[in-house]
Amino acid sequence: MNIPFLSFEPQHAPLRDAMTAAFSRVYDSYWYVLGEEVKQFEREYAAFNQVAHTVGVANGLDALVLALRVLGVGPGDEVIVPSNTYIATWLAVTQVGATPVPVEPDPATSNLDPARIAAALTPRTRAIMPVHLYGQACRMTEIMALATQHNLYVVEDNAQSQGAAFAGGLTGSFGHLNGTSFYPGKNLGALGDAGAVTTNDAALAHKVQVLRNYGSQQKYYNEVVGYNSRLDELQGALLRVKLPHLPEWTRQRQQVAAWYDQHLAGIPNLHLPAVAEGATHVYHLYVVHTPQRAALQQHLTAQGIGSLIHYPVPPHLQQAYQALGFAPGSFPIAEELANTCLSLPMWPGMTEAHVAAVADVIRAF
Ligand SMILES: Cc1ncc(COP(=O)(O)O)c(C=O)c1O
Repeated sequence: MNIPFLSFEPQHAPLRDAMTAAFSRVYDSYWYVLGEEVKQFEREYAAFNQVAHTVGVANGLDALVLALRVLGVGPGDEVIVPSNTYIATWLAVTQVGATPVPVEPDPATSNLDPARIAAALTPRTRAIMPVHLYGQACRMTEIMALATQHNLYVVEDNAQSQGAAFAGGLTGSFGHLNGTSFYPGKNLGALGDAGAVTTNDAALAHKVQVLRNYGSQQKYYNEVVGYNSRLDELQGALLRVKLPHLPEWTRQRQQVAAWYDQHLAGIPNLHLPAVAEGATHVYHLYVVHTPQRAALQQHLTAQGIGSLIHYPVPPHLQQAYQALGFAPGSFPIAEELANTCLSLPMWPGMTEAHVAAVADVIRAF
């Protein structure tokens, strides 16, 4: 059985007519940037994420950059980031001129460990960026309490976790400003690059709106040095077609994860994803850990089963971050997770037969 790492087919094939109708609507409107589609999508996504405001932007990285910029985080400031995130979280901090300060994750969940944050705080710390990695919500109650206690901003990186929750609150609704990504492979994916900032603060939302549009409210009058980072009308219209299906797609991802949990139980040296108490997981990725990662991946490939590594090199060991002076051993938990993680096929529409076939191949290995 050939099982790809990701197939869009079950999500996209049934929506073909609705998506092409949305395309035609935008095409015929003769209005392609910052119009009604983006406005409506922002309202609909805010309702979905249970926040007062959504501001559509060009991609997830920009969402994080604009959030930090609006909060005034910049040169001389330190921002707490996970040691094991996708590099975009760190890049956002660097791009506003601040310094990323890595904190190790809980190895069981791969998510930022709130108990380790306090030790990394200095008088220069301005913000904490929790990343709900792989789709599991971070322990936001503790993180928000710590932020309040130390007068810090929180910017959630919600790129992988639309619809996840901690203690009943949705990810992307806790922080002062939060970023998400609608990159095609994300749980809610556009047909190209797209992202959004979410917040409950009207004044901050307004500042993001100005900053994404050249720092301008009135055409050709610029109040601040802004960006061109707008969500396209076309992507807004297409995302509006997909958004109502996200809860059902999430339910299917959770069902696929439950099947994996069952079918992979008890295999020696194979660690399955753990979910923290109070957290929900929307399984953007189903990530296992094994010391025999390279051989297992080769074996899966040989049997026609896709897999990927998220991520092979932690940010502190990337060439891009050489100047920070970290070395192998600086963040041993992140390094161990990077050396042992393997993401198995995960997409809405996968069947139990697919999962059982993947599990059989792993068990045979
Ligand atoms: C955790 C995380 N943060 C940020 C991003 C950046 O999103 P984008 O690719 O839309 O810029 C991504 C996805 O690529 C991500 O996985």
